[in-house]
Amino acid sequence: MHYPDLKMARIRTDKKVEIKNVSYDFDPSFQGKKYFLKTYGCQMNLHDSEEIRGYLEQLGYTKTNELSESDLVVLNTCAIRENAHDKVFGYLGRCKHLKREKPDLIIALGGCMAQEENVVTEIKNKHPYVDIVFGTHNISDLPKLILEHTEKQNIEVYSIEGDVYENIKYSRDSKYCAWVNIMYGCDKFCTYCIVPFTRGRQRSRLMENILEEVSGLKNKGYQEITLLGQNVNAYGKDLNLGYDFKDLLESVAKIGIPRIRFVTSHPWDFTDEMIDVIGKYRNIMPYVHLPLQSGSNRILKLMGRRYTKEEYITLFKKIKESIPNVSITTDIIVGFPNETESDFLDTLEVVNTCKFDSAFTFIYSPREGTPASKIEDSVSLEEKEERLQRLNQLVNQYSLEHNQELEGKIVSVLVIGINEKDHNKIYGYTENMKLVNFFGEEDLIGQIIDVKITVAKSFSLDGEAI
Ligand code: SAH
Ligand code: SF4
Ligand code: F3S
Repeated sequence: MHYPDLKMARIRTDKKVEIKNVSYDFDPSFQGKKYFLKTYGCQMNLHDSEEIRGYLEQLGYTKTNELSESDLVVLNTCAIRENAHDKVFGYLGRCKHLKREKPDLIIALGGCMAQEENVVTEIKNKHPYVDIVFGTHNISDLPKLILEHTEKQNIEVYSIEGDVYENIKYSRDSKYCAWVNIMYGCDKFCTYCIVPFTRGRQRSRLMENILEEVSGLKNKGYQEITLLGQNVNAYGKDLNLGYDFKDLLESVAKIGIPRIRFVTSHPWDFTDEMIDVIGKYRNIMPYVHLPLQSGSNRILKLMGRRYTKEEYITLFKKIKESIPNVSITTDIIVGFPNETESDFLDTLEVVNTCKFDSAFTFIYSPREGTPASKIEDSVSLEEKEERLQRLNQLVNQYSLEHNQELEGKIVSVLVIGINEKDHNKIYGYTENMKLVNFFGEEDLIGQIIDVKITVAKSFSLDGEAI
């Protein structure tokens, strides 16, 4: 089997590079066939989907946005909370229905849920109409699994992470903004989190390979790149090659892409030198997503987050003072097992101190196999929901206040697309990652322009192009 033009290097951390040429011929039997790809979860998954699309399009498939038109459905799943699972199983129901009308339809499930043993067992036992299951460590096997496809369910998932692949031919969603993986997996093992189990241990890409990818994107005219990792500040720690995230960030900034972003930051690995680099370069965006998770030291300890609320606030203030006009956003979990009202009030207190630009808030969801899931919990769901509401109210109030500060100001916006509800409007993001809607022509998409903010809302801004 040969894929055209697919050359990948397997990189080992001992620096021995073994070039693996996986080349498959374009297969005429796929010409005219359509794939429908649905992605759940985080940016990592969105970017993995660009890899999946790359493979499928090389085989000869074309994309469709209509499930009913598809010959192949791929669900790239997320396992972070139970509701992510529920959504996927709900959607599988629709796929099953379609397969009754179209018996040749191939249904493939990949992503983080595929790495969970209980999910694979459930698919084997209760969802025989799912044809293919592939994991996060063997995305590049999907074309092989499709070509091998027979009546029999084909499940190929590896529990142990492999090497890091290079020269992946992504089919990117955007011509202006690109995701760039700088590392895979996570070594933090926060007690509530399934990611280290679904994504494996931390593996950083070699700096020279990342820089080569970024230079290539600049040459193609990309305006913005986002460096991706579950914990970008720990970049390089597994390589022991004498460089870390600040070195990478500085080298990337020098390549000269207009906008550079990075997610996600972990307070534990954030150093003063990293803050200096972010503040020093105009093209590193003044925006840091810095998950707090809880404001209670007791809960933070149980979560295994390795910082106290005082340390978090000190870091927060350092970032605010050192980076001009920086915005900081966060993630917060309410209802960790046995969280008391007083623990929760500590979280509200940190929110009142930091006044985040915005926050993603979640009710704790027990994940099988994680240490926290074994803790017996005395807090009711109603209580957790009530806390979430109180937290959201406070968070939204600060979001609105931050947005109101921008009224009348002129901000720089990278235009991304046409507003879905009002087609006369276009939208984009400010340097601080705030969404702005305004009247404008389609040809501005992909450009960085000045926009005057006219109206502030909690979750977006209205403006006018000047
Ligand atoms: N690597 C990032 C985030 C990964 S997941 C970090 O460490 O910050 C994104 C967010 O989902 C987390 O920040 C956390 O707030 C939330 N999350 C993770 N596991 C969860 C769980 N079991 N229940 C509820 N929320 C969870
Ligand atoms: Fe999960 Fe913690 Fe790793 Fe983030 S740092 S992915 S929350 S284990
Ligand atoms: Fe979900 Fe996996 Fe991302 S669990 S949040 S898709 S790393």
